[in-house]
Amino acid sequence: MNAKYIWKNGEFINWEDATVHVTTHAIHYGSSVFEGIRAYATADGAAVFRLHDHTKRLLMGCKIAKIQQPYSAEQLDEAITELIRRNEHEACYIRPVVFRGAGALGLEGRGRTPTEVFILTMEWGRYLGSEAIENGVDAQVSSWRRGAPDSTASMAKIGGQYVNSMFISMEAHDNGYAEGIALDVHGYVSEGAGENIFVIYNNIVYTPSIWSSILAGITRDTVITLLQEGGYEIRYEPIAREMLYMADEIFFTGTAAEITPLRSIDKLPVGDGKRGKITKEIQDQFFGITSGKLPDRHGWLTYVQQKTPVGD
Ligand SMILES: Cc1ncc(COP(=O)(O)O)c(C=O)c1O
Repeated sequence: MNAKYIWKNGEFINWEDATVHVTTHAIHYGSSVFEGIRAYATADGAAVFRLHDHTKRLLMGCKIAKIQQPYSAEQLDEAITELIRRNEHEACYIRPVVFRGAGALGLEGRGRTPTEVFILTMEWGRYLGSEAIENGVDAQVSSWRRGAPDSTASMAKIGGQYVNSMFISMEAHDNGYAEGIALDVHGYVSEGAGENIFVIYNNIVYTPSIWSSILAGITRDTVITLLQEGGYEIRYEPIAREMLYMADEIFFTGTAAEITPLRSIDKLPVGDGKRGKITKEIQDQFFGITSGKLPDRHGWLTYVQQKTPVGD
């Protein structure tokens, strides 16, 4: 069932009324910037994971795409928590999107199109399937590469750039895989269509750095923090494709995919084909913190309802 309300330019409107005109600039050219955020169910109600990091990244994307919009990250944080309250979600996926609206079809768009800001929420389960978190998924190396650093702004979630992610996903699905992994322009491993990747070999954790045209994922950053706390060595270096075939464990990270193990790549099993020890350890930490069962020692959760003070 759809949520009741959508936030549009500062107002709460009914889901059915959140429509746009066909001349909307973003429909034609992908002139939008978006975020994907999750709120998790806890004993104290819904809690949004790393909310402010997401709204800050949204505003950074708007700066790069040169789309001016009037709201501060704090105002968007408030709008998001209020929307979740009004839609009465226990848990949800949150999609803010800022885009050039209807006005002119010239490519430039600036000054001739109004900026529209929408936030919608929806119930969304496991992105790569309910079994995936435990059993892992099968992936392929895509024939599509990530954009070169001087042709796209990989670190920004700009709508038009996601044609590349769609190509990677569709090719993988057509070939019977759950997801595709793109190489960067130099032929090194970059990331999944909508996920960052971690490769574990001989107890050392490798993950591509931002020079491999990745989105600097917030889940990636979370996992790096958890790995560092666990005392693991992490190396940020160009990863050759064959490392994917040699690895003991591989997992994806992302707001949608959370932490999902890879079971096979290009039909070769990853390790023994089962979820690995380090993957499970990091998943336990991640899901423990996001469900409120483990202490939120980094202040990653924003509770939608005020928590009752202890002792009341
Ligand atoms: C291309 C791409 N890579 C990685 C990620 C993972 O980023 P995050 O953990 O911030 O959701 C996403 C999702 O936002 C993405 O779209």
